[in-house]
Amino acid sequence: MARILVTGGLGFIGSHTVVELINAGHEPIIVDNLSNANVDVLNGIEAITGKRPLFEKVDLKIKEEVEQLFNRHTDLDGIIHFAAYKAVGESVAKPLEYYENNLGSLVYLLQNLRDHGLDNFIFSSSCTVYGEAEELPITENSPVQPAMSPYGNTKQIGEEVIKDAIAAHQFNAISLRYFNPIGAHPSAEIGESPLGVPLNLVPYVTQTAAGVREQLSVFGNDYDTRDGTNERDYIHVVDIAKAHVIAVERLVNRKNLDKYEYFNLGTGTGSTVLEVIQSFERVSNSKLNYKIVARRSGDVTAAYADTTKANQILGWKAEKNLDDAMADAWRWEKKIRNLD
Ligand code: UD1
Repeated sequence: MARILVTGGLGFIGSHTVVELINAGHEPIIVDNLSNANVDVLNGIEAITGKRPLFEKVDLKIKEEVEQLFNRHTDLDGIIHFAAYKAVGESVAKPLEYYENNLGSLVYLLQNLRDHGLDNFIFSSSCTVYGEAEELPITENSPVQPAMSPYGNTKQIGEEVIKDAIAAHQFNAISLRYFNPIGAHPSAEIGESPLGVPLNLVPYVTQTAAGVREQLSVFGNDYDTRDGTNERDYIHVVDIAKAHVIAVERLVNRKNLDKYEYFNLGTGTGSTVLEVIQSFERVSNSKLNYKIVARRSGDVTAAYADTTKANQILGWKAEKNLDDAMADAWRWEKKIRNLD
């Protein structure tokens, strides 16, 4: 049993990871400032696991709050750091808020890790660090490209901050580079709740089907892919969550081969936007209202993971497929809209 601090633990990936930590017999402590999450998520976690984890409302970009948090919790075995702003477009409009929040909180956490003699840090990174990769599938050796947004830059710089801190101080870390996390817990007790109009494909699909949105816009069908729409590696959030449990156990048990390791988290299979729509239509047994519109600026043609390193070294493999994820996303959407 390990005591793990989970920052952003009421968010989409954070809450699913808290569930998997509890399922694996660990004791998560949730930290969240509720800027993009609701405290009711605790009820969902409790409904699934029968346990209500400790919740600390802390704003990690306020240094004193972080210090007080670590003074209250001196016996942590590890930290999984999800808390961050994540909207690409918003980051272009508010770069300074993104750097302050995403990098300030990371630096304060690492300072406290160091000062309290703690160890074992898992960082929530993104395939966005690879940009438009020259070779597919994308391995961890693909070069990190200049970031296309301040959000992406916070992930790249975040990885570098950790690298430099590890070179100077005595701790171990793993960065997990997610491809496109989607879906919800199969129980429909927790899921994704974007504020306002969703920017990501899958919540837009389910909200359109639920009647909350009029029509999905498919951003371009003139890309060099099998049907002209962008190709991505959509991965079930429960699979992503399980990878975090494996990663933190790897550090706690000193199974890591380097002080700082990086792993891609994807399925290894790319799906086009139209294939995602077809999957949704199959599992929901309905037709989705969509139209093809112009490309969205900043979208890469195709991105999907080479998962060999995660499979062989981390010992993790995605178990769920696109249909599973779309069915779970739809079950969650119907539940929060009171549909059936
Ligand atoms: C984006 C971010 C990525 C972030 C991820 C999860 C960029 C370049 N990347 O990935 O850094 O980690 O979100 O938050 O922004 N699409 C539509 N119609 C829609 C919405 C999306 O056709 O209404 C298409 C997009 O053009 C894209 C695909 O669906 O081809 C997936 O889009 P999205 O869910 O936004 O994820 P990414 O852009 O891949």
